[in-house]
Amino acid sequence: MESMGGLKRSHTCNDLRAPNVGEEVTLMGWVMRRRDHGGVIFIDLRDRWGLTQVVFNPVFNEEVHEKAHSLRSEWVLAVRGKVEKRPEGMTNPNLTTGEIEVMVDELRILNTSLTPPFPLDEESEISDNLRLKYRYLDLRRLDMAANLIMRHEACQAIRAHLNTQNFLEVETPILTRSTPEGARDYLVPSRVNPGRFYALPQSPQLFKQLLMVAGMDRYYQIVKCFRDEDLRADRQPEFTQIDMELSFVEEEDIYGITEGMIASLFKATRGIDLQPPFPRMTYAEATDRFGTDRPDIRFALELVSLTDIVRDCGFKVFQTVAAKGGMVKSLNAKGCADFSRKDLDDLTEYVGQFGAKGLAWVKVKQGGEWQSPIAKFFTDAERSNMATTLGAEEGDLLFFVADQPTIVQQSLAELRLELGRRLGLVDKSTFQFVWVTDFPLLEYDNDEKRHVAVHHPFTAAKEEDIGLLLSEPGKVRSRAYDLVLNGIEIGGGSIRIHQKDMQERMFTALSISPAEAKEKFDFLLKALELGAPPHGGIAFGLDRLMMILAGKDSIRDVIAFPKTQKATCPLTEAPAKAERKQLTELSLRPDWD
Ligand code: AMO
Ligand code: AMP
Repeated sequence: MESMGGLKRSHTCNDLRAPNVGEEVTLMGWVMRRRDHGGVIFIDLRDRWGLTQVVFNPVFNEEVHEKAHSLRSEWVLAVRGKVEKRPEGMTNPNLTTGEIEVMVDELRILNTSLTPPFPLDEESEISDNLRLKYRYLDLRRLDMAANLIMRHEACQAIRAHLNTQNFLEVETPILTRSTPEGARDYLVPSRVNPGRFYALPQSPQLFKQLLMVAGMDRYYQIVKCFRDEDLRADRQPEFTQIDMELSFVEEEDIYGITEGMIASLFKATRGIDLQPPFPRMTYAEATDRFGTDRPDIRFALELVSLTDIVRDCGFKVFQTVAAKGGMVKSLNAKGCADFSRKDLDDLTEYVGQFGAKGLAWVKVKQGGEWQSPIAKFFTDAERSNMATTLGAEEGDLLFFVADQPTIVQQSLAELRLELGRRLGLVDKSTFQFVWVTDFPLLEYDNDEKRHVAVHHPFTAAKEEDIGLLLSEPGKVRSRAYDLVLNGIEIGGGSIRIHQKDMQERMFTALSISPAEAKEKFDFLLKALELGAPPHGGIAFGLDRLMMILAGKDSIRDVIAFPKTQKATCPLTEAPAKAERKQLTELSLRPDWD
C-alpha cells in the first residue's frame, strides 16, 4: 500500500469533458471495472460523483502498466495522467465523461480490498439483508449515492426557503417525556434517577408549541423522531420530519407557506415546477370517493354507493348489511369484462385480507345484459338503476362489497389501487398532491373502550363543532389537515388548542382524568395559562418525500443506515445485549439471561 505521495486530487470522476483534453489531472477513487484489451488495461474509476475511464498503456508507460495488472475491484487508487479524447467509435454517450479517458502516468495503490460480498454494479439484485450488512458498499453504488445527494439538496432547499420566510431553526430534546402520537415509545432508563425513564420523542410536538409560547413565532427543525410501531415500506422506527410551527396563523397560512416550501423542494431536486395551490378534499369526501383518507388521485375508478338502491333487493347479503346500518359500495372496472375466473378469485382473496367477506361481480355483456352469480337476485329496475349509477357499459366489470363501513371502504380502496396497478392506470411521472381537511377529532377505540385523538390530543376542534365535544364526540371535526402525494401521506398537522380550559375539555373527552392530565401534561397546561398565542403547524415525512422524489418503493433507499422490518441494524447488529453491570447501574433487574 502506498501513501498519496503528495498527489492532490484535481478533479472528481465526473468532471472531465472534451475541453479538458490535453490537461494533466489527478483522480482518486475506487476500481469499478477492469478490462484488458490487447495488452491495454482499462479501469472505470468511481467516486460518488461518477465514473472516468483510466487507461494503462504499455507503450505510454510500461512500469505503470505492469503495476496495473494487480488491480482488483474496489481497490482505492490515485492516478495522475493526461486527458485524451477517446478514439473514434469508442465514445460512450451514456456517460458524462464518455468522450474522454485518462492515460495514466503515475499509479498509487492507496488501499486494497477483499472481493466484495456482492458486485457493486447498478444492475445486480442483492438481498436487502446483505445490502444493509455492508451498507457502506451499497452506498458506494452510484444510484444509492444519488439518493443521498438528492436528500442533501432537499434539506438545503428546505432550509433556504424557510429561512427567507423568517423561520428559526431550533433544536428540541431527544431525551424527553412521552409525546403522544399514537405509537409506542422508545424508553431510555435514567442511571441517576433509578426507576425513571426518558422517552425518545415521537415528534417534537409539545416543545414546538412551547416555542410558540416563548414567542419564537416561526420554528422549524429537520429532526429525528422515534416510534416503536410495526414497520412497512414507508415506516421506520426512527425517521426524519421537517417539523414546523407558526404563531398567529390559520389553516390558509399553513397551506400557503408549506406549498411554497414543497414547490421549492421539487424545483431544487428535480427541476419540476409545481403549480400550487394544491387541490383540497374533506375527509368525508375522500373516504366516500376513494375509501381512504390518502387518496391517490392520479386515476379515477371511484367508489360508488349503492346502499339505497339495494336496501330492499332480493340478495340477502346486501339487504341484511343495509338493514344493519352497513353499506354496499361498488367499483366499475371499465373494459374488464374479459377478466378470467382466476382473476376474479385472486381479487376476491385479495380483498379478503382487508376483511371483505366476499367480492360480488358483474360482467356487462352485449346489450347491457348482466353475467353474474348475483344477477338473478335483482329486479330489472334495480339492475338498471345500479347500471346507471355506475355508468356501466358493455364490456365493464362491476365489483361490489357489502359490510360495515370501515371494511367496505378499506377493501374497495385497496381493490382500486390493485386494479390501478394491474391496468396500468397510474401515470408514474406525475405528482398529484391533495390536502385532506376536516378530519374527525376523535375516534372510538374498541380495545381501550374510550375515544382517542385521530391526530393528537393538542389539535383544536372546528369552532362550530365544539359544542358536541362532550355530548357527541365522534361527530366533532378537527382543524387537522394532511398533505397526500400520489396516495402517500407525506405530512400532517393542525391548528392547536391554545387555551387551558379547552385543552382540559379535550382531555376529558379523551377520558384522561384531571389527575392524569396534571401528571403528564402539567407543563403544557401551565404554559397555556401564561400567554400562549394562537398557533398551528405541520410536519412532513422527509424520508417519504425523498422516496417519491427518487422514484423508489421504500424509504430505506433514501436513508443512509436504515433498519430492517424487525427494527434491527444488520451492520452494527443493534439492538445488542447489554452488560449485566450496565443494567445494574441502571437499576434494571431483568429476568432474561
Ligand atoms: P404525524 O404523526 O402525522 O404528525 O407525522 C408527520 C409525518 O411524518 C411521517 N411519518 C413517518 N415516516 C416514516 N416512518 C414513520 N414511522 C413515520 N411516522 C410518521 C409521515 C407523517 O405525515 N406532531 C405531528 C405533526 C403536527 O401536528 O405538526 C406529527 O408528528 O409522512
Ligand atoms: P354467496 O351467495 O355467499 O355464494 O355469494 C354470492 C356472491 O356474493 C359471491 O361472489 C360472493 O363473493 C359475494 N359476496 C358474499 N358476501 C359478500 C359481501 N359481504 N360483499 C360483497 N360480495 C359478497
